[in-house]
Amino acid sequence: MVIDAKGAKLIEVLIPLKEINEDSLLEQSFKPSYKRLSEKLGITLKGHTFDPKLRSIHIWPARRPCGISRALSLASVITSDTDQKVFLELLGYKQLRFIKKHPPLIFYTRPQREAIKKVLLKEAGKLTLCDPMAGGGSIPLEAARLGFRTIAVEYNPVAYLILKASVEFPAKYADAGLFEETLKATKELINRARNEIGKYYGEGAKRYIFARGVRCPFCNGLIPVQGIEPEISSVSRLKGRFLKITYDKTRKSFSAETTDKPISSGTIAKRGNNIKCPYDGCGKWFQLRGRAKDGMTAFDRWFYSHAELMEKVVEGFAPITSDVEEDLLNLHIPLIKQVRNSFQAIWDDESERKKFVGSLHALSGELFELQSFIPLDEIPKENVWASTARNKGLSKWYMLYNPRQLLAIAKLSKIIAGMADELVSKNGEFGAAVATYLAFALDKIADYNTIATHWQGTRSKSGIAHTLRGESTLDFRNEYCEMGFLPPELSLGWALEPDVAESGSLTKTAGGILPVLRFLCDEFRGSNIGDHVHVYLGDATRLSTFLPLKSVDVINVDPPYFEQVIYSDRSEFFWALLRRALAPVLELLFKPGMRLSNWSWTSPTVPREREVVAYDKEDSQGRFRRFFNEFVGETAKVLRDDGVLVLWFTHPTAQAWRVVSEALYQHGYVVPKVWPLQTEMPTRFKKQVNVVAQEMSLVIVGRKYPRQKLLEVSPQNVKASLIENSLFAKTVEEAVEGTRKVIVESNVSSADAAALMFGTALSVASRFELPIGAKFQDLYDAAITAVVSRFTEPLVYRVLTETGPVKLDEATAQKIVKNVVQGMLWDPAIRSYLTLWLISRVDLATAEVRQEPLGLHFDLVQTIGKLCGFGVEELKGYGLVAERAVDKSGRAYYPQFLEMLTLPGGQVHPSKLMGVIPGSAAILARMAMTESGDPAARAKTIKAKMSMRSDRELSSSAALAIILLETTRDQDLGYKIADKSKITRYLPGMDESEMARLVRELAIKTLTHLVF
Ligand SMILES: C[S@@+](CC[C@H](N)C(=O)[O-])C[C@H]1O[C@@H](n2cnc3c(N)ncnc32)[C@H](O)[C@@H]1O
Repeated sequence: MVIDAKGAKLIEVLIPLKEINEDSLLEQSFKPSYKRLSEKLGITLKGHTFDPKLRSIHIWPARRPCGISRALSLASVITSDTDQKVFLELLGYKQLRFIKKHPPLIFYTRPQREAIKKVLLKEAGKLTLCDPMAGGGSIPLEAARLGFRTIAVEYNPVAYLILKASVEFPAKYADAGLFEETLKATKELINRARNEIGKYYGEGAKRYIFARGVRCPFCNGLIPVQGIEPEISSVSRLKGRFLKITYDKTRKSFSAETTDKPISSGTIAKRGNNIKCPYDGCGKWFQLRGRAKDGMTAFDRWFYSHAELMEKVVEGFAPITSDVEEDLLNLHIPLIKQVRNSFQAIWDDESERKKFVGSLHALSGELFELQSFIPLDEIPKENVWASTARNKGLSKWYMLYNPRQLLAIAKLSKIIAGMADELVSKNGEFGAAVATYLAFALDKIADYNTIATHWQGTRSKSGIAHTLRGESTLDFRNEYCEMGFLPPELSLGWALEPDVAESGSLTKTAGGILPVLRFLCDEFRGSNIGDHVHVYLGDATRLSTFLPLKSVDVINVDPPYFEQVIYSDRSEFFWALLRRALAPVLELLFKPGMRLSNWSWTSPTVPREREVVAYDKEDSQGRFRRFFNEFVGETAKVLRDDGVLVLWFTHPTAQAWRVVSEALYQHGYVVPKVWPLQTEMPTRFKKQVNVVAQEMSLVIVGRKYPRQKLLEVSPQNVKASLIENSLFAKTVEEAVEGTRKVIVESNVSSADAAALMFGTALSVASRFELPIGAKFQDLYDAAITAVVSRFTEPLVYRVLTETGPVKLDEATAQKIVKNVVQGMLWDPAIRSYLTLWLISRVDLATAEVRQEPLGLHFDLVQTIGKLCGFGVEELKGYGLVAERAVDKSGRAYYPQFLEMLTLPGGQVHPSKLMGVIPGSAAILARMAMTESGDPAARAKTIKAKMSMRSDRELSSSAALAIILLETTRDQDLGYKIADKSKITRYLPGMDESEMARLVRELAIKTLTHLVF
């Protein structure tokens, strides 16, 4: 064994998976599931429905849980012989029970810094941890709380500012009164803003819902387009929950009212993207949305008209005539406002209309003073996320707002910039820090006030759906929303929450900035950690140009994966605002941390040249592969020889897994462990499987251990000789055995167990030098085949010889198993598919065929899929698994066999199916059941028909087909759909189960002729 037990760290051997995963699930949940989960975990929550979270400082996509971040960093520095209980204590876990004010999360406990020092035999500050892609800051924050010298690097300027605000400033300035000064500045900001902006909003208005006014192309009637009718909200305590719109045919106008009386349907008839003009006498259908069949859709026309209006006013300095006012009100129809707990129709509310129109006058009247604070920058063509806006004629960022939204944003920005100037001249960087939180409040408000927001009126979420809400592109719905400004709980009061923070009852927070800031400052007060935290704007693919070689003890990093989130694109929405509001302090904030040479904080765009992302699912340009590889190479340069790399892997595909594994191997990393960790919000994956990662992450541990040489590997037949190599086999055996123990000790779910077990393949492959003539993929294929077959072989063997319906002799069973294993070496589809099939169809303990196939959880399918080299999307693409609704709780995956050929709608073309062994196995099985003659004759016919297949392929397919036939239920055999007469002709009067037995036997015997 290569791993030197003396230098091994806890993370390479055992971490308390159950405890930290439970903590993480709780940390990542939102309120309702949060409560449910706490109950499930036996934790009594006494009214703790809100709590200050790091994510409330500023939104950043894919922010990871702090509890896990802390656990992984600590486990990377303490030795492998540390007791699990001791580890949990050092982490702060023991204090959970004593937490009074907060929910019981590791995040709200303090790591035992003194005890850690004793265990480490040195100050934690002597150890350096670097997160080179630090994003929203969970990893560096927890590293700093542990007391490490912490280096956080980010390529993105918005994330850079978030990192400063979340980690560096609290660590550095808690004792200097950062929280207190920010509270003071917040109050001043709110006062100034209230005087300047409040007057443009209706008294008591909490939220507005705007309809977009479109014209019927036939009768020119004005139609208020919105998606909220008839039930605005399903929350029953709210008044006026139903909206009724009435259309006046003669005046071609509408009126709207809200009512408590349930209304069952809306007033506009819809069919797909088309709507019916609601004015009697017209009633014609026209295309509202979607890809225009001819010319432009009415919806798209709305955006062009809006952009034109805004441009005319903002850049053309057009006077606001009554025509302009009318244009505004015909386009932006203030339809509803929420005041406390009721919805009121305001389409004809003169005072509301006046205030709204007044904001346009104010914007126009103050253009000169506000010029520098209006985001006039172009939405860059490279910004894929915002392409939907550009395609609708919104070419500049300011066009994402209605005039009142823009006025508020620009005025706030101006006030903040003014305060930033004062603060910085009085207090230097400390003042700049204070200003940063104020500017973050502006971002938060902007996020909830654009024409790309929409209304959500379900029971769990009644309110505004914000602009940056996770879709892969900016998403425009029928209606849009705006926040009110006056009540203290709105707008700045909501974004910053000074009252909650000042009162100290932080659990009352609804997501404001100051309660988190207070919590963080309390954490760092008196800790003297400030000097240990360094935040850089830099490129992780060039880490060694600004960090000394071999200087870092732990690299803990959660990189982007492929096209999942293009961070630059989304952040640009905020950058357009921040660079204005913080203009007076940008130089002071950026200069000391700048490690990027070809970008300046004066730039209207964010850097994207070397962002580690792909622009399409397949990474067809190879961009991700190249940058990721360079990044891993750089980590190896700056990491000490005895350092630890912790790499979070959050992508569902096998392709991503290959890119990552190869990069790690190429740069000399040995992987002692792969840990399955719950890092996503529990409710997320069902809805967003195709958009955002997944529930589970795999955390890969890398070390710079020396590799072992493998002798006697034939360059002509690398994979096969690897699998027969005794050292290789022994290493697999030991790794699997070690993992089995971890699985037992950790009491983990089946998906976690699969991840732990199959993760050993990377571990094994990474321990060996490349034999002559081999590629890393050969090593991995051999290792994963060895691991998979260790799981499948004994089970298959028992089925074939003992428990299956057709008992085979040992020699035949062995031949079948050997052929399948050989197939696994070169076709990853068998590895994924057979594993999933057996889990779904066979009782793993008794080897009996299940009467009801087991539906498999997404996590399990995607984990097995990617580690085995054939991911869930590929499995689905070939029809090898099908997704079905099981109950209210969601969908499950079922591996398919003959169903893939027979089920209506589920078929994949046979020529495609033949491209993978499981597909050709299904075709062979079907032929074996339906051809004529005795088994030998059938086999001959099949062989002739399959002459283009190599013997190796035919043999592996036939072997797999036999296993599948042995584990398929009678009713799934499909012989009824096949030509039944060929059987019944000879054996009239036979009952169904007898027929199944015979068909199965005949087919299996046929197939044994094809297995060599
Ligand atoms: C998955 S996120 C990290 C999230 C973070 N762990 C958290 O908890 O918020 C990946 C980050 O990598 C950053 N990134 C992408 N390319 C980079 C590069 N070349 N150098 C440094 N950071 C980069 C992105 O801006 C993004 O914030």
